Formats: sequence, structure tokens, C-alpha cells
Amino acid sequence: MASLQARERAVAAEMQKVRFFPMSAVGGKGSYIINEDGRRILDLSSTWGAAALGYGHPAVVEAATQALSNMPGATQCTITNEPAVALAEELLAIVPGNGDRRVWLGHAGSDANDALIRVVSAATGRSRFVCFIGGTHGGTSGGLEVSGYSPLQHQTRTSPRAGQVFVPYPDPYRPVFPGDVGQRVLDYLDYLLHTIAPPAQIAGVLIEAIMSDGGLVVPPPGFLKGLADLCKRRGILLICDEVKVGLGRTGMMHAFEADGVSPDLISFGKGLGGGLPLSALVGPAEIMNDPRGLTVMTTCGNPVCASVGRAVLRTIQSEKLVENAAARGRQLQEGLRQLANKHPLVGDVRGRGLVIGIDLVRDRQTREPATKECAKVAMRAFQLGALFYYVGHTSNVIELTPPLTLSAAEAEEGLQIIDRALTDVEAGRVPDSAIEGFAGI
Ligand SMILES: Cc1ncc(COP(=O)(O)O)c(C=O)c1O
Repeated sequence: MASLQARERAVAAEMQKVRFFPMSAVGGKGSYIINEDGRRILDLSSTWGAAALGYGHPAVVEAATQALSNMPGATQCTITNEPAVALAEELLAIVPGNGDRRVWLGHAGSDANDALIRVVSAATGRSRFVCFIGGTHGGTSGGLEVSGYSPLQHQTRTSPRAGQVFVPYPDPYRPVFPGDVGQRVLDYLDYLLHTIAPPAQIAGVLIEAIMSDGGLVVPPPGFLKGLADLCKRRGILLICDEVKVGLGRTGMMHAFEADGVSPDLISFGKGLGGGLPLSALVGPAEIMNDPRGLTVMTTCGNPVCASVGRAVLRTIQSEKLVENAAARGRQLQEGLRQLANKHPLVGDVRGRGLVIGIDLVRDRQTREPATKECAKVAMRAFQLGALFYYVGHTSNVIELTPPLTLSAAEAEEGLQIIDRALTDVEAGRVPDSAIEGFAGI
């Protein structure tokens, strides 16, 4: 029998491949995925953050099995069902905000962001969005049009949304403005609002509280607060995309809580579904209710996915996974900083909780991105038993987003593998041929 990869190449469309893909999975349990060759691979990505509770968590298995065995339809569009209603109630209970609010349920971060673009434009009568260079908001047309990630847009021949405004994300390690980069970005945005992007045209500012795909960039303290204040002063909605970094991952329930802001609308996805397709948008009733039929997809509010979403939220609380993410995040970041002392490839270690970036550089002075080396580290780690991907415009930032259930022993195992992988790449023991064929855009 041909390998899974060979069979896949013969039947599956290459257009769904991205970044780095040597893994062929035949099963998964906890923090590990089983590779076709039988090896248990420690998944330090949790499938790009989707498998928030790892694989086969009993709460997820039970919720899905129960819901499937007595399935109250397959949609919320035309059938009210208990799991979808209860999930909305439970989301409203944990998402900060005032006044009358509503929840929309979808399948993926992409459709949640599409829904928000559509509903915010309809409700405000304004169609321009302010987004960030490097931001990623989805693979559907709507999400791509507001994303500031050029390789994907080039590949898909997607133009930015008409009237779109992009501003730099405040990156303390690679600042585009001198001095206080957070304040300079705010000043620049204010200047745009005074000149070519009048607030009367701006539907909202859409931001990731930590920019993940764009290079795992953590904004300087106070930036989000400054942005929220600016939006308030100018009468513009602040919208947070929590798809990747929300729901416990940062060691807080919401990533935007780092600065104590309360966005007007928030999109969720990935981890909310515990590996199943589920997303949500939370916002003010006067925006979210109008008009009916604005964003309909048949399996929105699917009761099986909603039941799993409820189980994920319950488990985050019952197993104290926000606290675990904070503790394991500290352990990993401290360990990685120690590794940085002996590995010249490591230029910067940054993150919050269990969303961590390791910026690899060829030279610590110039900070030249170590792109090829980064792919090699990912490949060597995979050979040694750990899976993670890389992000950033120059694909040189290792991204760790392990399951929130990660144990201290697993975190230690991950650190040891990363140490060995860095050692082998620095010693030139990983040839170029090792990464050929596995690197997507
Ligand atoms: C911040 C953010 N928003 C939205 C999306 C789109 O989510 P999905 O791929 O699940 O549609 C992503 C995907 O990586 C993301 O990182």
C-alpha cells in the first residue's frame, strides 16, 4: 500500500496545503498525534490552535456522541435547538460587554469574520475597515480582503476590500517606527483618520490582540487600551479577532483582557470547537439583529458542534485550563529563554500563556530572518517527535500553540526536542533536501 502522503497527492487538491506538512496522522490522544509510521508526535500546535483540549478529550467525545445520538436537526437557520441556544447563553456569560447582545454561530474563524464585516457594514452604513499589516482574518473571500498578509493575497489574487486601510502592527522587535512604537502607530492611525480615512466612513478597527500568523507579535502594554480610547473618541467600533488567541490560550480567558479593553464585537473560532468546525461572533443586538437572512449557511448553529463548544467552555473552567495555560506558558517561555542563551539562532522569545513565538535570526544584530533554518528546525523537531509550524511574513517565527491541557512533563519534552532541533540545525546536520516538498506559502 502506498503511503498516506502518496495517496493524498494522487487525490487531494494541493490548494489546501499551507506552511509545513510532513505529518500523516492516523490517530490522536491527548497532546499527541499518531503518525502513519506509528510514532507518537507531541503536537505543540494543536492543529493551529483548533484542538484546544487536545485529541479525544472525554468531554468532547461525550458531547459529540450524545448530540449525534439524538440530533435536533442540523441547523439554527430554521430550527431552534437547545445546544445552539445554550452555547450562545454561555458565551454571553463569559464575554465582557454591556447592554443587549447577541451571538451568531458559524463554522470557522473565516465565516465569523465574513459575518462581522457584512453585519457591521450593514448596521453602520460604513464600509471601510482599518486592519493591520500581517493580520489574518480568514481564507474566505471576505476574510482575505481584510487580511494584511501579502503571500496569501498574492497567491489567491485577492485585492484588499475597497477603501481598506492598513496600518502597521506595533512590533517591538521589528518596529517600523522609531521610539514608542505603540504610540507611533496610534499617531499614524489618528493622522489617517484626520486625512484620507474620515471616521464617518470607517465601519470598524479589526485587530488580533496578539498577531499570530503575521509573526506572533505581542503589542506593547497599553497599545490596545490606546486603540480602544482612539476608537471611542472617533466613534469607531473596536472589533477583536480572538479566533486564534482567545478562550484561555493567553492565560486569560480573552487575549484583549491584557489591556483591560472591552471590544464592541468579538469573533471566536478554532479552539471553541475543540477540533470541530465551530465559530461565533458576539456583538450588540442593534448591530447583530439587522437584517434577517444577512449571513445564512445551512449548518450554522449545528447542534453537534454547539454541544462540543459547550463542552469546551465547561472544560476550560472545570479543569482550570486558563490557569494551566498561564503556568505552562511561563514554563515554556522560561525554558526557551534559557535555550536562547546557547542558541544564536534564537533572536527573540515572546508570547503570553500558550501562544509563543520563537523568532529565528541569522544575526542577532541585524535580526535577519532565518527562514530556511526555521523550516529545518520544524522538520528536525518533527523527526525527533514534536510538531509545530512557523509564521510571519518571512516564515522565520516558530509558533507554539499547544493544547491548553498540556502537562508540565509534556512542556519539558517539547523544550528538549526544540533544544536538540536547534542544535542539529546550527551544526548543519539538516540538509536542504530534508525540507524540500513540505513548505507551503
Ligand atoms: C486570527 C485568525 N482569524 C481568523 C482565522 C481564520 O480561521 P479559520 O482558518 O478557522 O477559518 C485565522 C486562521 O488562521 C486566524 O489566525
